[in-house]
Amino acid sequence: MIVQLCGLSGAGKTTLTTCTKEVLKSQGVKTEIIDGDEYRSRFCRDLGFSREDRFENIRRLAFIASKFSSHGIVAIISAINPYQELRDELKNTYRNVQTIFIECPLDVLIKRDTKGLYKRALLPDGHPEKITNLTGVNDPFDVPKRPDLTINTSLYTLEESVQLFSQFVLQRLPVQAQPVSYMP
Ligand code: ADX
Repeated sequence: MIVQLCGLSGAGKTTLTTCTKEVLKSQGVKTEIIDGDEYRSRFCRDLGFSREDRFENIRRLAFIASKFSSHGIVAIISAINPYQELRDELKNTYRNVQTIFIECPLDVLIKRDTKGLYKRALLPDGHPEKITNLTGVNDPFDVPKRPDLTINTSLYTLEESVQLFSQFVLQRLPVQAQPVSYMP
């Protein structure tokens, strides 16, 4: 199974996937997290944040995810993944792709601003530190049409969100990948 997340920076994708991986592990389910930030610092270092580069970034992550998935490992693509067109492409290209929208209102993200990116995107035009292509502020994010699951991290605790995420995965595992306790 491939799980493609989508959601703005700071919405909680990394924390949520890291905790969900632990829960799945405790159930005997192998999971690999393919994290946008991590891959951008190594495998996708040549890519920026234009529409074209974001497409290339997600296509690379999806290709890697498909390799893990083909070995029965749940592959979670944890990235902003902002374009509906590309999310549809992944669904149509690979088997058993599930889409989870990690939702969080922009005003909450601006308040959290763990990486200081929102502050920089909201600087006045012409400011030397201004970011001009931050997703959700001055770059597009297509709100997903019919995601398989939405988790609004401003409404749920981390524990509740992890519970939703892990139950979702456990219920959709192909039979051969199910943990022993889930075997009939
Ligand atoms: S994606 O759009 O191609 O899916 P990805 O998830 O890999 O993006 O990378 C997003 C991460 O890059 C963010 O969490 C943030 O740390 C960093 N980043 C730096 N600049 C930007 C920007 N302009 N827009 C979005 N993310 C940015």
